[in-house]
Amino acid sequence: MAIKIIMDSDPGIDDAAALTMALNDPQVDLKLITTVAGNVTVDKTTKNALKIVRFFNKDVPVAAGAKQPLIKKFEDAARIHGESGMPGYDFPKDLPKPINETAVEALHDVIMNSDGKITLVPTGTYTNVALLFSEYPEVKDHIEKIVAMGGSLGMGNMTSAAEFNIFTDPDAAKIVYKSSIPIVMVGLDITTKALLTPESLNKLEYMNKTGKMLHDIIIHDGENSDFGVAMHDVNTIFYLLHPEAITTKDMWVDIVTDGPAIGETVGDIRGAYHDGKTNAKVCVDIDAAAFNSWFIDEVSRINK
Ligand code: BDR
Ligand code: CA
Repeated sequence: MAIKIIMDSDPGIDDAAALTMALNDPQVDLKLITTVAGNVTVDKTTKNALKIVRFFNKDVPVAAGAKQPLIKKFEDAARIHGESGMPGYDFPKDLPKPINETAVEALHDVIMNSDGKITLVPTGTYTNVALLFSEYPEVKDHIEKIVAMGGSLGMGNMTSAAEFNIFTDPDAAKIVYKSSIPIVMVGLDITTKALLTPESLNKLEYMNKTGKMLHDIIIHDGENSDFGVAMHDVNTIFYLLHPEAITTKDMWVDIVTDGPAIGETVGDIRGAYHDGKTNAKVCVDIDAAAFNSWFIDEVSRINK
């Protein structure tokens, strides 16, 4: 049976690639897309999500979410993802509209009305999810797990300590990590290892329309280099479909919410502070070659 998921995202180039996989893989049942301010403003991330949905002519609802983090001042990542958040491709202009519900209302309704538990897949900052848990704590019993891109046991990519999604709204991340729902932390420890190689990127260009679209936006990613490009958010979908290619370690993860390490995910690797208790499965290693072949396979199977 397909895995029922909701994606909460901020497209964003790698978010767009993650949405592409989630919308098209038959083993994934994508019920809802919610958007959040992150890579660019929420108006732009919502428009970008709608562009992807329209590109594939899918009728998955899109609900617009938080315009800013819970407490911290909003700072975007346009320097990586461009002013629009998804540059380089001429998407259809006749876009569908977001649904007439906020992200939090839509998350609540879809989760509570689902026939079976939902897996939440946040690939942006976690503001919507934190607001959902604060307003509707009853949803927690209906969530299978959270597979979230964000965090790092090592270096950050925003500061020396913090990864972007956690840095953007550390107070939201704290609420999510304290929710008691099983969390899989898909962080920089694996996403910077499983780079989409230049060879894979070249293959995409002439594969099909989807490959061309992804190629054209990915080459605009500010992290693209001669070694390849991190497709951070896509690792969440890869984990859902191929957990055997990723090594995880159970540990307690705390979120730093102020000071020079604000946004750091402190993994208690040695089990020194939490009496053997854990709140997350942290992804620590990945088969990068398997990620690349899967990525190419997924795109080549899309009938567009
Ligand atoms: C994360 O930050 C965003 O820029 C990407 O879309 C990804 O979700 C990587 O740190
Ligand atoms: Ca993202």
